[in-house]
Amino acid sequence: MSSTQAPTTSPAPDLSAARRRSAELEGLIAEDPGRFRVLTGDRPTGPLHLGHYFGTLQGRVRLQDAGVDTFVLVADYQVLTDRDVAERLAEHVEDLVLDYLAAGIDPERSTVFTHSALPALNQLLLPFLSLVSVAELRRNPTVKDEIAHSRQAAVSGLMFTYPVHQAADILFCKADLVPVGQDQLPHLEVTRTIARRFNDRYGTSGPLFPEPHALLSAAPLLLGTDGTKMSKSRGNSVNLSATADETTRLIRSARTDAYRHITYDPVGRPEVAGLVLLAALCQERDPRTVAEEIGDGGAAQLKKVVAEAVNDRFAPLRARRAELAAEPGYVREVLRAGNERANAVAEATLDEVRAAMGTAY
Ligand code: TRP
Repeated sequence: MSSTQAPTTSPAPDLSAARRRSAELEGLIAEDPGRFRVLTGDRPTGPLHLGHYFGTLQGRVRLQDAGVDTFVLVADYQVLTDRDVAERLAEHVEDLVLDYLAAGIDPERSTVFTHSALPALNQLLLPFLSLVSVAELRRNPTVKDEIAHSRQAAVSGLMFTYPVHQAADILFCKADLVPVGQDQLPHLEVTRTIARRFNDRYGTSGPLFPEPHALLSAAPLLLGTDGTKMSKSRGNSVNLSATADETTRLIRSARTDAYRHITYDPVGRPEVAGLVLLAALCQERDPRTVAEEIGDGGAAQLKKVVAEAVNDRFAPLRARRAELAAEPGYVREVLRAGNERANAVAEATLDEVRAAMGTAY
């Protein structure tokens, strides 16, 4: 890489700038949703939980329903970053797609697809790798964090390079918006850097790739039943697909504190506030009002309210999920159609890339 290029994968992306930009973008989307293409996705490593739902899934459905062209990626290759073998992959893929569909992702309007079915997307990885330095790959704070938490004996090459592969996920369809959580901001910087460098180096007849923007969720972080961030790997989550009884049991086991009077105080009483917030999100109410109503009812009443709120809110989604799961071959069919559509887009982009790089023979 030439030494004149500024280092662009900054170790601490400016969160408040990203928030400000996201708010501006929301305004532009409301004005003209058809102008935008969104890409997001998840690693198929297990069922989605309520944190995913309020953090990103609900937002994706809102964008789709507003008329934004939406691509949803089942990032199956990315599962292999922090483990040697993708255990029960087919089952996790099926679960993830069912969660999407039950939450309102509509396969008629959104393109749901998998990494591994798109050769042209994967081929973009090679030119893209040539546009970043090893030093930049090493600096990525999210990758560093994942390496620190990985239980693998050795760090694989994919761990260091998957943010570049993620750039291919986003750029193959020329998405301009990427709804993500904070931890993905460094990856989005990598994508923007690659788009810019590709355009600088090969875009003699105009830029080929847009520089996509992160769209940060406005929803506050949801805590799990132990009072820390809700997360698959911490075993503290309530899955979207949980039954009403499982939900009630999980919430009954949640940690609270020794004070009877229920208040909403995220800093002083994180465990209680997390439960109050969950009920408030489910009921689309202000968490302070929810807390006031429970008042001296204590932890038992709080948990009863939360379990009912979750079960009421998600009953329709869960019923729909069960219906779809009972239809043999339905998820396969959704993926087949989505992969076909995504493949056509990826091939068209790869053709343009070949023409720009002088490798169209
Ligand atoms: N890295 C994301 C995660 O861990 C998944 C992902 C893969 C993704 N490719 C993406 C997210 C492209 C947004 C855009 O959940």
